[in-house]
Amino acid sequence: TRTHRIAVIPGDGIGVETVPEGIKALDAVAANHDFELEYTEYDFASANYWLKHGKMLPDNWFDELKGYDAIFFGAVGAPDVVPDHVSLWGSLLKFRRGFDQYANVRPVRLLPGIKSPLAGRLPGDIDFYVVRENTEGEYSSVGGIMFPETDREIVMQETVMTRTGVDRILKYAFELAESRERKHLTSATKSNGISISMPYWDERVKEMSAKYPDISVDKFHIDILTANFVLHPDWFDVVVASNLFGDILSDLGPACTGTIGVAPSGNINPERIYPSLFEPVHGSAPDIVGKGIANPVGQIWSASMMLNHLGEHAAGAAILEGIERVLTRGGDALTPDLGGSGTTISLGAEIATEISVATRLVEAR
Ligand code: NAD
Ligand code: IPM
Ligand code: MN
Repeated sequence: TRTHRIAVIPGDGIGVETVPEGIKALDAVAANHDFELEYTEYDFASANYWLKHGKMLPDNWFDELKGYDAIFFGAVGAPDVVPDHVSLWGSLLKFRRGFDQYANVRPVRLLPGIKSPLAGRLPGDIDFYVVRENTEGEYSSVGGIMFPETDREIVMQETVMTRTGVDRILKYAFELAESRERKHLTSATKSNGISISMPYWDERVKEMSAKYPDISVDKFHIDILTANFVLHPDWFDVVVASNLFGDILSDLGPACTGTIGVAPSGNINPERIYPSLFEPVHGSAPDIVGKGIANPVGQIWSASMMLNHLGEHAAGAAILEGIERVLTRGGDALTPDLGGSGTTISLGAEIATEISVATRLVEAR
């Protein structure tokens, strides 16, 4: 049997509550497939670690983590304890950059059993991917403050786009579009107002599209693109975006599918030189932490994406099917964000049971 070594980092807030539900689903599916998962849990990338050590990560984090087959991550952020930019740039953003996880892949899908807040939309109407550039763009720490604490304060922060960085995310998105039935790619731009980096982005899209003649390409400025996510979600198949635009679109998309609580993501290093990191799109949700009502589906779906990345496609599919069957049954098991009265643990347990039963039935056939 194959063994996959997984670094587990629950982090902060509801990450600590949802990660165990992801593990439950992984264990349920692994029990009936020909592989084993070996977990190593870490307490760093959390406010507790910060309080103890005055930093978010141990100095050897890179060497400690680089040999894993994947990283299974919860969420980080405890703004009452440590400022968000300090905790995030001290942990998650270091992982994304250090492990060159330049493709942030975020499926947006209206799952069966979930009611979209968009009138009349049914599963099948919303089924696309946001492919977000994850290592450069608007997320740079390049800049500074001149004349601080005077009336003449000047604050500057640069957007950084490299040809390598832009081309590799576009290539990733085009390849993903190629694998899909509709073969359609939408580029998020703002080349009317952002006069240097975004026209460059458009130019790179145009050049890349010449290599993929069977893919239809369009582009929207980010402002109207957000409107079209709401008005015409059925227009989209693969949406490729710079770091910040992709961040915004990947909360808006899932909100259109009922709740951001179900949205998963893969921070992918396509070359597989480093481990990829799988986490829900949502954050640590301080407003609901400790109530036991966080939706675990984003975390569990992220587990499914992780298995697909590890080549365990049957097992990855089994997890997603388990999620879909439980959501379709609906009722009280669902968490409050889905209109139910269930808890993180009860919904997680129901999905894990569903996965176990279903995979045993398949085995028996
Ligand atoms: P958030 O995603 O944590 O929460 C936004 C809203 O969605 C809240 O009302 C929350 O209760 C709700 N929500 C989120 N996940 C949910 C779930 N699984 N089930 C039910 N409801 C859910 O975003 P925020 O409030 O902007 O950020 C809170 C903290 O998390 C900050 O410190 C932020 O920096 C951090 N954050 C971390 C990540 C990450 O680790 N990848 C992502 C986003 C935000
Ligand atoms: C996400 C989050 C992070 C991001 C924050 C917490 C830095 O919002 O993963 O979407 O902006 O990338
Ligand atoms: Mn985000």
